[in-house]
Amino acid sequence: MIQRRTIGIVGIGNVGKAAAYALFNQRLASEIILNDLDHKRAEGEAMDLMHGQMLVGNVTARAGHYADMADAQLIVISAGASQKSPDETRLELLERNVRIFEQIVAQLDEHAPGAMLVVATNPVDVLTYVTQELSERPAERIIGTGTLLDTARFRALLGRHYGVDPRSVHAYILGEHGDSEVPIWSNASIGNQRIKEGPINDIAFDEHAMQQLFENARDAAYQIIERKGHTDTAIGVVIARIVRAVIEDQRSVLPVSVRANGAYGIRDVCLSLPAVVGRHGIAGRVTPTLSTTEHEGLQASATVLKESREGVTV
Ligand code: LAC
Repeated sequence: MIQRRTIGIVGIGNVGKAAAYALFNQRLASEIILNDLDHKRAEGEAMDLMHGQMLVGNVTARAGHYADMADAQLIVISAGASQKSPDETRLELLERNVRIFEQIVAQLDEHAPGAMLVVATNPVDVLTYVTQELSERPAERIIGTGTLLDTARFRALLGRHYGVDPRSVHAYILGEHGDSEVPIWSNASIGNQRIKEGPINDIAFDEHAMQQLFENARDAAYQIIERKGHTDTAIGVVIARIVRAVIEDQRSVLPVSVRANGAYGIRDVCLSLPAVVGRHGIAGRVTPTLSTTEHEGLQASATVLKESREGVTV
């Protein structure tokens, strides 16, 4: 018997819509429930998806409310205000979104206490922490999209620079999904050749080009917001990647926002570290050896995130 898989999405704005499309198109659920304060918007998005069903396969999308998510295996939270201009940082969104999350998490604890939660709303690291504080479910079952998106951008740019498939690039950005994120050059490699140690595909290592490439990955959202007003499609496939790791119990190592457990001397904050993602959420951690600069950068990122939530009451 085919196992029914229900995935819920709370907040059907640009990110929620992109996530719904990615999940639908990749057939990662048998049923996708779209929940938005504007129920008509959720209905319209569900109708629009369903008109592609004949071309995608046996996936159902429908508008629903929290009570409809009772059997959901996983629920994405993409509700909240988003960055409205390239001048607004993700952390400046915080107060507005904490209030929204208080209501959402209370409803999810009441109606879908068994579901895993994937937080995508910014500032995602702080809101992942806030969700873990507000919810009764274990912290391991609450993941933030974190720097998986930044790492994807980083690998895409490195792949283009070296003329190789981004899937053959092994490099991470860790820490805050934001301005203090940290490129981990120590072990960055392509085809088991460390990027910093020599030419790859006949392209010599260029310190300046690599710094510029990292900054382009870090600042990509601002560049996109300046051009199209928001970001959506890439974060949508990032969410789908996390959902796939969970529903297929892949135990993939992904840089997602998790509760720091003392590694690198960091605790009491959520930020992106390599984590094993499987059916029950965070199934393990990987703690790569970092350079002094990277270690200090990660600790600085943790400090930025802790300081950003000062004065925020949950
Ligand atoms: C971005 C948003 C999702 O980086 O923070 O595109």
